[in-house]
Order: sequence, then C-alpha cells, then structure tokens
Amino acid sequence: MLNIFKFLKREKRGIGIDIGTSAIKMVELKGRKGCIKLSAYGEFQRSIFPNKQSFQSGPLYLLEEEAARIIKLIKNEAQIKSRKAVMSIPVFSSFFTTITLPSLPKEEITDAISFQARQYIPVPISEVVLDWSILKSKPPHQNFGSGGKKEKDRNNIDVLVVAVPNEVVNRYVRIAQLADIELSALEVETFSLARSFSKEDDSSFLIIDFGANSTSISIIRRGSVLMAYSLNFSSARFTESISKFLELEPKKAEELKRKQGLQDKDTIAPIILPLIDRIISEVEKIVDNYRRKQKKELRIKKVIIAGGMANLPGLKNYLEEKLKKEIEIGNPFLNIKTLPILSPVLKQIGPSFAVAVGIAMRELE
Ligand SMILES: Nc1ncnc2c1ncn2[C@@H]1O[C@H](COP(=O)(O)OP(=O)(O)OP(=O)(O)O)[C@@H](O)[C@H]1O
Ligand SMILES: [Mg+2]
Repeated sequence: MLNIFKFLKREKRGIGIDIGTSAIKMVELKGRKGCIKLSAYGEFQRSIFPNKQSFQSGPLYLLEEEAARIIKLIKNEAQIKSRKAVMSIPVFSSFFTTITLPSLPKEEITDAISFQARQYIPVPISEVVLDWSILKSKPPHQNFGSGGKKEKDRNNIDVLVVAVPNEVVNRYVRIAQLADIELSALEVETFSLARSFSKEDDSSFLIIDFGANSTSISIIRRGSVLMAYSLNFSSARFTESISKFLELEPKKAEELKRKQGLQDKDTIAPIILPLIDRIISEVEKIVDNYRRKQKKELRIKKVIIAGGMANLPGLKNYLEEKLKKEIEIGNPFLNIKTLPILSPVLKQIGPSFAVAVGIAMRELE
C-alpha cells in the first residue's frame, strides 16, 4: 500500500540538453506544470569563435564524440542521475513552412500534409522527418483582409510544417547513444523557447535568440509557434569584428564586448551597430512578410530576447528605440522554484538557458 502511495506522489522529471555552437547546456526540472522546481543545471562553454570547429558545423564524428563526452561531464558534475532526456535541434538545421488545407478528417491530414509539403521543402520528402501542428484559425470576421473570402476558404486550416533532415536527426541519436542518454524526444529549439516564455494570454510576441553562431527569430501566438527563421550570424561575429577593427586578441575583444557593449559609444558601438541594424532590418522584414503572406493580422505586443548576447550592455534599450516595442530580457527561470540564493546568477544566465529549460519543461507537461 505504502509503495503505491509513494508512486502516486512521485514527481515527474524532465532533462533538457541544448547543444549550442559555443556551449552545451543541461537542465533538470522536477514537478509538474504550475509547480516546477529546478533540480540541477550545468553548462560547458567551448570556444568564443565557434564557426571554425563547432558541435554543429563539422560533419566529423569526432565532434559527436566531443559533444557526448561533454554531456557526460555536465551530467556527472551536476549529479543528474536519470538517463532519459530530450535534445533540441537548431532552427538553422530545420525548414519551417505553413500550408493551408481544406478542412479534412483527422486521419487524412497526415497524408495531405506530406503531399503538400513536397512543394515547399527543398529536399526529397524521404530524406526528412516531418512534424506539424495545426494553427488555430481565427474566427472569419477577424481575418485581416478577408473581406472578399468565400465560405469554403473560411473552413481552411493553416498548418505549420517543420522538416528536419534525417541526417541531422541521426547525428543527435548518435550523440545520445555515445553519451549514454536515452533520448525520449527531439524538438526544434523554437518550440522550447516558446514553452519557456509563453504565458497564458492571447498575445503575439517575437523571440529573438542571439546565440553565438546564429540568430533565430520566432513568431509566437497564444503559446503556439507561427513561424521561425534563422540568420547565419550572431554574437561570435560581433567579437570577430571588434577583434579585427581594434586589432585585439579575440579574448580581449570578447571581454570588451561583454563589459562595454553599446555603452561604449566611441569605440565598440560603431563597430557592432551595423551588425545589430542588419538583424533589426531582418526582423522587420520577417514580420512584414508574414503579415503579407498569411494575410493575417499580427499585432506584436513585445519582443523577448534570449541567447547569451541578450545581455549585451545597451542592447535592450537600443532595440526598444528601433523596434518601438517592449523588449524583455528573457528569464526562463522566472516561474520556476529555485533556491533564493541562486536568483541573481539564474537571471544572468537565464537568456542562454532558455532553450534547455524549455526542453526540460516538455517532459513535465
Ligand atoms: N554579457 C554579454 N554580452 C554580449 N555577449 C555575450 C554576453 N554573455 C555572453 N555573450 C555571448 O553569447 C554567446 C553564447 O550564447 P549562447 O550560449 O546562447 O550560444 P549558443 O547557444 O552556443 O550558440 P548558437 O545558438 O548560435 O548555437 C557567446 O558568443 C558570447 O559572446
Ligand atoms: Mg543556442
């Protein structure tokens, strides 16, 4: 009897692993939705110039072995006992598209999606793993520019389709095997970010993840991912530019970037502002294109910034000024129970742990 009672009370556990280009992060959460506790976290930072030889970029099995070795190391250090975990796949390794289908019986949707997806996905469908989610459509009267739509169009459903090449999936499966991890799922990191930052309200918002090697931009509405894009540069390029223009060692350039950022208006800001402006103009284009293509109203209430570079001094204010939106530095630990003493450090590392926290939360749903 006692055992059964114990079993019923046992808390769920979720372990998330984010294999980024500059660092690997691991988070273990306990509890259930609404009452989540942080049980362990760990990070191993690799290089400040990840593009040369990174966890993601090289096809070499050596990189998989390295990633696996580091995962084992973090697991050991953070004293994470369970072998079961979920890993994230970067946006730059996936294709996102939305397709519109007529209203169909549930059992016919999968076939219809893989048939339609062929037109949009630039590689043979046999070489990718497809996933999809139905985007709840708005009542017809709310559709932007839908004035002349026929009755049958109103019954259409929009579906977000995500494709990940088999080759990418196989790499993660191999890393998990080498690290002695039982992989319970893989998910594209946009979904992890959305889980980390979605609140139970109706609003649409953007998440910009400023990683080391790539910047991902996701559009979220009512907790669902509408679309995601990736730009092939981010924080490491900023350091590279500072190092080049000021003829500094990369390590020193990285230090200056983190310490001074945009607050150094004479030296650092002029070097990195053109890169930030490029990201801003991409963000604006992405939102405009989405509105135009989907012919949907999209009122972005705020922008959450994540990734290590979200902490760049002065970035929040600059984005606020340029995008004219509320900007929030994402802290995925905000609604998670932790030791109070950890709060300052978790606030600091929060933006770069957003993916790992979001994946771990998946297991507690
Ligand atoms: N205070 C700071 N100011 C500016 N940049 C910072 C700061 N702290 C960390 N970074 C940058 O954040 C980057 C690491 O961020 P993150 O951990 O999100 O990257 P990643 O997940 O490994 O990369 P990617 O998502 O591109 O694969 C590093 O390039 C580092 O320079
Ligand atoms: Mg990342």
